[in-house]
Amino acid sequence: MKNKIRIGALISGSGTNLKAIIDSCKSGKIDGKVVFVGSDNPNAKGLERSKKQKIPTFIVNYTSIIQNFNKNPKKIKIPDDFDLDDVLLKQSLFPFDFEAKKIKAFMITRAAAEAKLLEEMKDYPFDLLVLAGFMRNLTPYFIDRVNPEPENPKIMNIHPALLPAFPGVDGYGDTFRYGCKVGGCTVHFVDYGEDSGPIIGQKTFQINKDDTLETVKQKGLQLEWKLYPESIQLFAKKCLRIEKMTYIQPNNKITKRAVVKIVD
Ligand code: GRF
Repeated sequence: MKNKIRIGALISGSGTNLKAIIDSCKSGKIDGKVVFVGSDNPNAKGLERSKKQKIPTFIVNYTSIIQNFNKNPKKIKIPDDFDLDDVLLKQSLFPFDFEAKKIKAFMITRAAAEAKLLEEMKDYPFDLLVLAGFMRNLTPYFIDRVNPEPENPKIMNIHPALLPAFPGVDGYGDTFRYGCKVGGCTVHFVDYGEDSGPIIGQKTFQINKDDTLETVKQKGLQLEWKLYPESIQLFAKKCLRIEKMTYIQPNNKITKRAVVKIVD
């Protein structure tokens, strides 16, 4: 394990990105080792892959936590250290004028699930947490506990579009339906918004007149399997540095943004 980073992974589905990461660790393209795989979905195919590789796995069933809350909100186990006001102030998953009751229910149910994730993850110390097709938004409750120093982010995500275009659950579909002539994928650090964190790397592909949604997805995934291991290796080599950029928008609003600088 000398000079190897410990990588934790969260998945929801087939786990082909996870496979690319595990293979890259084995071949030496990543100086790292996957130390656990967690999922919100008991049927995630990627869990089987992980078990075959003798990587510890666990499941936190988000769907049942949310269903139970909807049946009886009073019965939910809110973590003792959960501060709703703090989470509401920090989050940028929802606009401020979004229905308060819905945001509150979202944050409470997700924090209840996230407390279980944290509990499971306690057994496996890690340097980097990768979201590899994990289809759940993380709240500030979880992010702050995994990532107490925002200037040293340690949660990465892969997104199937060229961010900041097309955040959300269907990046390739949105790219294709919009009629884009170029598509792509993005690896970024996770912040309090949806697919809004500092960008680490991107790859692009052409969309031609004969392409279908299926071929677009295939082209994108092929690139994801290269981009994610490359980005993780940059992290392992300590080549990723966060810098603050300040700029004035056309409406004279001063904006501060964290960006990733790649250093040698
Ligand atoms: C990928 O397209 C990834 O970008 C997105 O979800 C998909 C996961 O695929 N977040 P897999 O589970 O890695 O095969």
